[in-house]
Amino acid sequence: MGNMLARLLRAAIPAQRVATTAAPRSPWWRTAVVYQVYLRSFADADGNGIGDLQGLRSRLPYLAWLGVDALWINPHYPSGGADGGYDVIDYRAVDPEYGDVADLEQLVADARRVGLRVILDVVPNHTSDQHPWFQEALADPSSAAASRYHFAPPSEEPPNNWRSLFGGPAWSRTPDGRWYLHLFTPEQPDLNWRDPAVAEDFERTLRFWLDRGVSGFRVDVAYGLFKDADLRDNPGTYSPTLFGHGPEQAMTWNQPEVHDVWRRWRAICDEYDEAMLVGEVSLADVGQVALYSRPDELHQSLAFRLLKSPWSAEDYAEAVVEALDAFGEVGAPVSWVLSNHDKERKVTRFGGGDVGTARARAAVLLMLALPGSAYVYAGDELGLPQAAVPDEAKRDPIFFRSGGLRAGRDGCRVPMPWNETRGVGFSTDPDARPWLPIPEDWGRYAVSRQARDGGSMLTLYRRALAQRRAHPSFAEGEASVSRQGDVLTVRSVGPSGTVRCVVNMGSQPVVVRCPGSVLLSSTTRLPRSGDGLALPPDTAVWLSED
Ligand code: GLC
Repeated sequence: MGNMLARLLRAAIPAQRVATTAAPRSPWWRTAVVYQVYLRSFADADGNGIGDLQGLRSRLPYLAWLGVDALWINPHYPSGGADGGYDVIDYRAVDPEYGDVADLEQLVADARRVGLRVILDVVPNHTSDQHPWFQEALADPSSAAASRYHFAPPSEEPPNNWRSLFGGPAWSRTPDGRWYLHLFTPEQPDLNWRDPAVAEDFERTLRFWLDRGVSGFRVDVAYGLFKDADLRDNPGTYSPTLFGHGPEQAMTWNQPEVHDVWRRWRAICDEYDEAMLVGEVSLADVGQVALYSRPDELHQSLAFRLLKSPWSAEDYAEAVVEALDAFGEVGAPVSWVLSNHDKERKVTRFGGGDVGTARARAAVLLMLALPGSAYVYAGDELGLPQAAVPDEAKRDPIFFRSGGLRAGRDGCRVPMPWNETRGVGFSTDPDARPWLPIPEDWGRYAVSRQARDGGSMLTLYRRALAQRRAHPSFAEGEASVSRQGDVLTVRSVGPSGTVRCVVNMGSQPVVVRCPGSVLLSSTTRLPRSGDGLALPPDTAVWLSED
């Protein structure tokens, strides 16, 4: 199917494809816009330069005003700090840097009051090396805890040819010479999901947080957990691409046994009111990704291809159609993603400066016009570029493990600018030293400044979210995607009639037929041309045909 589809889309003729979303009227998550909060960088209430739960709580009115439906909070657990909180020491606690469980409960309750649901990040593929299980396993090779990880007896060579995603070998030695597996950093030993105690403990963790009112979980590395039962060598060579896992790593990822974990987790969520699971399934084949969201598995699995596509109508059309087809086949909504805490900020990715900003504006209109659910990363609504973080201030293990060859992800994790005062309002103490340095000019992106500016990125996001709500045909409708040269059109028919999103990804203006009205556009320069509109390069428009 892939090749045929690609040929179809490459053809110069309007390649019309209808993708069904076939959704019954939605539970909330099918069309939700989820705002990803990088907790450490969002808002600091206690003045120590690190974002926290009370800081986030104080900014709930902003998020309600913005118009999103739910928040996903990056890991808040006590952590060894080796990988931005993705090395968890205690899954049923809050890191004192961020607050405590009572703060989280308060956040969830307050969020609900302003119409926002809260989703937590759960990290089941690996723990921290400081987790009590790993510590016990280190101290005693014959302990029950040792079988919850992948240890191998001392030997000259590691047990197989697997490599860490962050660079270097996937095996390190314990002080007594044993090998242990870590697909990420050595401080993140991989759990052995063939030991039932692991599954039992995570089920307890899910209930612990669901009982405290959260609305679900973003599941880290959901395509991992189980490894080949015999830990055989991978067939292919290691790819240095961070999240491009193909068949060359067939022994490491995407083992069939993992789907049963999601079935059990789904059953647990079903016991709670409207709880949902969204998986990070970074597999190259979207057909495989969609299988994680079969009706009895994860509610959603994130569709990452837009996040990686170059600015081209051909690539975008292919990514959109491919995802609509694959998820449509299993009856799941697509969960669109344009940016997150692992990727370069999209303004920079799209070329930076005015061009990058124009494209980021157009791209978000496209994303929010697509049927399904969408994920917005904190700071994107401000058009933040990738920040230049000096090497000596960097924290990301990718930078260190690649010997500085890869810049790492710190530049998209820099604290949020809230106002134009000293310290840009990130911390209650303007003199607090933020955990990552904030660029000098960050105040120009501040929320307070953009909220007053009718032409700002923030205003565009807010209007788009309001229009998306007012015109449910975008999120709930049946979409057809077509491409004519550099122009991509998504036409959706649904409960609010027929709507269209047209994106000009080329370098020349194009005339767009406009029988109805303009709902929103990414540019203020939208001159009439005959009975149509002249859409400039790198812009998008939302139209209603009724
Ligand atoms: C996921 C997270 C990433 C983290 C990795 C290891 O890919 O998004 O930030 O480093 O898992 O847990």
